[in-house]
Amino acid sequence: MRLSVIGAGYVGLVTASCFAEMGNQVICIERDPFRVARLKRGEVPIYEPGLDTLLKAHLATEQLSFTSDLAEGVRDAEVVFIAVGTPTGEDGSADLSHVLTVADQLGRCLTSACLVVDKSTVPVGTAERVEQRINQRLAERGMTFRARVASNPEFLKEGSAVEDFMRPDRVVLGCADSDSREQLRRLYAPFLRNHERVLHMSVRAAEFTKYAANAFLATKISFMNEMAGICARLGVDIEDVRRGIGSDRRIGTHFIYAGCGYGGSCFPKDVRALIRTAELEGFEPGILRAVEARNALQKTLLVQALREHFNGHLQGRVVALWGLAFKPGTDDLREAPSLVLLDALLAAGARVQACDPVACSGVARRYEEAVTSGKLKLDESPYAAVGGADALVLVTEWKQFRQPDFSRIRGLMRMPVLFDGRNIYDPEEIVGHGFLYRGIGRPQAGHCKASAA
Ligand SMILES: NC(=O)c1ccc[n+]([C@@H]2O[C@H](COP(=O)([O-])OP(=O)(O)OC[C@H]3O[C@@H](n4cnc5c(N)ncnc54)[C@H](O)[C@@H]3O)[C@@H](O)[C@H]2O)c1
Repeated sequence: MRLSVIGAGYVGLVTASCFAEMGNQVICIERDPFRVARLKRGEVPIYEPGLDTLLKAHLATEQLSFTSDLAEGVRDAEVVFIAVGTPTGEDGSADLSHVLTVADQLGRCLTSACLVVDKSTVPVGTAERVEQRINQRLAERGMTFRARVASNPEFLKEGSAVEDFMRPDRVVLGCADSDSREQLRRLYAPFLRNHERVLHMSVRAAEFTKYAANAFLATKISFMNEMAGICARLGVDIEDVRRGIGSDRRIGTHFIYAGCGYGGSCFPKDVRALIRTAELEGFEPGILRAVEARNALQKTLLVQALREHFNGHLQGRVVALWGLAFKPGTDDLREAPSLVLLDALLAAGARVQACDPVACSGVARRYEEAVTSGKLKLDESPYAAVGGADALVLVTEWKQFRQPDFSRIRGLMRMPVLFDGRNIYDPEEIVGHGFLYRGIGRPQAGHCKASAA
């Protein structure tokens, strides 16, 4: 099929590349000309495993191309995907300005009927608004054909986005007519050869499904973080509790890890947008509010623990941070817990030595002044980051942080103190290396003795 994908971000780029991989002819339209120039040279502007291989392969086969000219990009399209951002607006709702701008642009340039598909996460009723906008503009131009708009929310996870797109758990299709349904079913058929996982539903139900999925996952995390807070006061290790409840198949093992809060481009904004949707409908979303409040608090726990440890004096302390991206496998920093920590530590006069395999350049751009003044050092080596540190804080559980050489680290640090923001370490083992260990919802373990370093 001839496809256009509007927006070359995490979702748009993966969608365009994976559809090209299945033999479709795909044009990806991005308003940022610098991004387009890089993509045309085969450079992937984000970190997403497997994406660069796909991109290079299909630039070479010419199955995939890029443009910043929307009219040119959609000229021959049979299906147009909208994959632009829907960030949090001023009142917490999803800011639809990018989506609605695209609708206007489409209405002004489409020259034949096509199916438009919302892949962006958008509140219930948005597809109807997009359809109205496009068709109003078409009518203004005297065009007699009309666009149809369907909803196909995306469930990929950053860090395994290509894999998720190629082998989806399910494909949710919200279509108002059988032609759209059939067209999208055919488009997704190659991804679902072993097992039929297409879920057909109304457009509005598809839009809501995406919010309900993210809100549920965020709720699981906040629930466990709340349990961790209670455990901490009772001297119970939340990790024992996690294993204890996760073995119950009704509960399951996923998304029940206590930690320093969820971030990213989806959970925080989608929970907020759903709260706002409920408010606008006069419904009190008590659970969602609690999920959000718990998460906001959770992101401050590591700072609180550091303050407590240093008796309120962070000025002049050297703190090593391991992990900056909001989760492993991505360079995405949107709403990352590390940013809350960085802001608080720098404001309190601490010096930060941070390390992340792929997110350092993004942090360097955000904290330019702190980097220039030497208050923030960024390094890709975890060992360089701990040199002379008074505390080490694990924020993002990248694989390379899971089994480091703690004897070496102890020798490099000024004080052997470890704050484990994701509970990935065995406290006994860490204490065995001479560290003081503090996790999230786990009893404190060990003592702090100044290192020889
Ligand atoms: N990132 C994820 O993991 C993920 C997963 C599922 C769903 N989603 C949803 O998908 C949508 C996109 O998310 P993302 O993370 O890819 O966003 P993103 O910010 O990474 O990318 C959006 C891109 O769209 C471009 N853009 C904006 N307006 C444009 C226009 N008029 N014409 C052409 N390009 C335009 C932007 O320049 C940007 O490059 C959001 O609604 C998000 O909630 C994201």
